[in-house]
Amino acid sequence: MSEYKISIVGTGFVGLVTAVCFADRGIKTICSTRNEKNAEMINKGIPPFFENGLEELLKKVVDEGNLVCTTNREEAILKSDMTLIIVGTPFNHIDKSINLDYMEQAAIDIGKALVKKNSYHLVVVRSTVVPGTSRNMVGKQLQNHSGKELGKEIGLIMQPEFLAEGRSIEDTFWPDRVVIGEYDKKSGDLLQELYEEFYGDHIGEKCPIIRMNVESAELVKYGNNCFLATKISFINELSRIAELVPGVDIGKVAYGVGLDYRINHRFLGSGVGWGGSCFPKDLNAIVAFARSQGLEAQLIQSVIDVNDRQANHAVTLAEELLGDLKGKTIALLGLAFKPGTDDMRYAPSRRITAEAVSKGAVVKGYDPKAKESAQEAFEQDKTVITITDSVVDAIKDSDCAIICAEWDEFKNLEPSFFKSHMRTPCVVDGRRIYDPILFSSELKFRIIGYKLKED
Ligand code: UGA
Repeated sequence: MSEYKISIVGTGFVGLVTAVCFADRGIKTICSTRNEKNAEMINKGIPPFFENGLEELLKKVVDEGNLVCTTNREEAILKSDMTLIIVGTPFNHIDKSINLDYMEQAAIDIGKALVKKNSYHLVVVRSTVVPGTSRNMVGKQLQNHSGKELGKEIGLIMQPEFLAEGRSIEDTFWPDRVVIGEYDKKSGDLLQELYEEFYGDHIGEKCPIIRMNVESAELVKYGNNCFLATKISFINELSRIAELVPGVDIGKVAYGVGLDYRINHRFLGSGVGWGGSCFPKDLNAIVAFARSQGLEAQLIQSVIDVNDRQANHAVTLAEELLGDLKGKTIALLGLAFKPGTDDMRYAPSRRITAEAVSKGAVVKGYDPKAKESAQEAFEQDKTVITITDSVVDAIKDSDCAIICAEWDEFKNLEPSFFKSHMRTPCVVDGRRIYDPILFSSELKFRIIGYKLKED
């Protein structure tokens, strides 16, 4: 038995949350990152990013001595029995295919470290990777650089993760399944044993452990994200149809549709579209993967196209209310890709800002948690936006407020609040948080998926 049971390569949101959750159950965990500042923060119990509930739990496990972070990857691997690879797999900007550079480097580093280890080591790929990567890239690099035999001296598993930002701690503690994609039976048995211990009674009907080969597990993850994104794009397309017929409310329609047990209501929330670090990269990556094998993934491509158009639709609704946007001031409320996170990756607010600016509008924005990350994101985009410290500062003297992420802070705002601060009281509810009848009776108002009456 090594000093640490688990080492984790990568301390992004999935890596750090996973590490903290293992450590919380008393499992000695060591994580590694190349980022010295982040390692220092983690060792002080301070998360380098915002995630609901993470701060308290990280502090606790660091104080208890169950989690440490190092910048020395080799040390982390050698001091543990198994290594989870949880590095980023972003997309290449030109063809949107998956970029496996971090994954490959992690496999090389682990292989090199394992030369110095005399006992069996299990390697678990947790990052999302296109089918074939775990066996053909990770497995090969592990063997080549360690000189050891895969399946005998080194075990290999692909175990997809299903954590959603903002609720990743509960998703880790109470998953609805554990998928084990095994290179060989011994690897699968070992990981199953760990999860049976970790989850105890939770494993069973509510959360089966399912075992399959590595490639199937890789595709389960894409199947999941593609299907969830499809549900959202589907309801967003239906919401555009709903808007063609005054009086049809997509909320009611989605409720009616979702009551069919074969469909269910989850991820049928229409709005300004999906964003984040996962859906955009994964859908594009699997389309590019299919294309590289000679297959056009037409449905998934359409899901992406519908989503790209949906953010701009919020600006069209603002135009319907205000006319030409040139010189008008638009206030975006909620900049992160969803509430509960400060993550700005592929956030709809970025597309909405670009579209509004291209129409000559001046844009202000406010987010309860994403001020710094938003500043950085908009600098990267080279779009001009003023980020404010409060809702009032954002809407003050503006002509239209667009709700881009449904933070609780915005949900109880009354029409009178907007009326007292805005130059032109006008709201586009891109996340369907307001009562359309009440708001429309008090100010200029449009909500995604529900046009009350003919213009
Ligand atoms: C997603 C999946 O939900 C996780 O299962 C998966 O593990 C994760 O990607 C990943 O691959 O790591 P995440 O991107 O964190 O998680 O967030 P979601 O809650 O899925 O939301 C994604 C986007 O869809 C957000 O922009 C959200 O606002 C939007 N959304 C979600 C809707 O527009 N409507 C809905 O009904 C639900």
